[in-house]
Amino acid sequence: MEKKIILSGIQATGVLTLGNYLGSLNNWVEMQDKYDCYYMIADLHTLTIRKDPEELRKNTLALLALYVAAGLDPEKNTIFIQSHIPAHPALSWVLNCYTYMGELNRMTQFKDKAAKHADNINSGLFTYPVLMAADILAYNADLVPVGDDQKQHLEITRDIAERFNSIYGKTFKMPEAYIGKVGARIMGLQDPTSKMSKSAVNELDKILLTDTPDEIRKKFKKAVTDSENKVRYDKEAKPGVSNLMSIYGIIKHKSMEEIEKEFDGKGYGDFKSAVAEAVVERLEPLQKRYNELLESPEKLRAIYEKGDKKAREITDKLLKEVYKKVGLVI
Ligand code: TRP
Repeated sequence: MEKKIILSGIQATGVLTLGNYLGSLNNWVEMQDKYDCYYMIADLHTLTIRKDPEELRKNTLALLALYVAAGLDPEKNTIFIQSHIPAHPALSWVLNCYTYMGELNRMTQFKDKAAKHADNINSGLFTYPVLMAADILAYNADLVPVGDDQKQHLEITRDIAERFNSIYGKTFKMPEAYIGKVGARIMGLQDPTSKMSKSAVNELDKILLTDTPDEIRKKFKKAVTDSENKVRYDKEAKPGVSNLMSIYGIIKHKSMEEIEKEFDGKGYGDFKSAVAEAVVERLEPLQKRYNELLESPEKLRAIYEKGDKKAREITDKLLKEVYKKVGLVI
């Protein structure tokens, strides 16, 4: 049987957090044998917010290095840079002509970002979901691993695909969101009721993938818990402890019940240091590979050139089909 196709991407906006890693990259690594996977660096999407050019270039390569350091095997997955594949913006233009302003106006992420960047509400920000639809539809993706915040973009992708298919006949496959198990949402260490965010002002709220072991230990030590001093999973009443349990569970492949048993009779001090050590142990080899890759730009180039080539072949074919269907001379 043919493997199902997976496509996903992350914007090139600086250092990722432990939440990004456990919520996306780590799941991607677990899917690489079972699916035909395409993972891109969404650098074109990053342009919707003003960025320093040198920084964007640096972040793009750093994110590529991180993909590989986290365990994505370039031999098994197609890893590429979005802007290197001309079919993405080209298909996006066509799809723009099949997307209504009213639909885009309803996107909550657009509203949030427009409020946050009131001085730069550019049309790229508005049509962001259409480029994302092009990313997905260009590969005939079956499944798209995304966080909660991107679900609406996947729905509009399906609407656009359906509209196009109903006018021109079956052209695009209908993609589905692939919402990971636990870990899809790792919360902040200081405010465990909101998602761990790379833009959090309070450094103690987030673990960065580049944090040193001592920084990681310190942040877990200071993580917000509650006064019960009992390791028990209860997301509503004990969001802090439950979040730490999720982190530990993903890394150690343990269920919440197993963790409760393991720490039965032990206090938060022991539990927090066990979580910290698990994270340190997981991140140390990742950081080592990451730093090595950053120092060998030629290796990184070879990785994306290989991925770009395959991505270009696949998308060129689909783009031609779309051009033909809408009436362009090909
Ligand atoms: N918008 C996504 C995010 O910020 C990144 C992204 C761009 C993406 N294109 C995609 C994710 C296609 C999945 C599929 O998280």
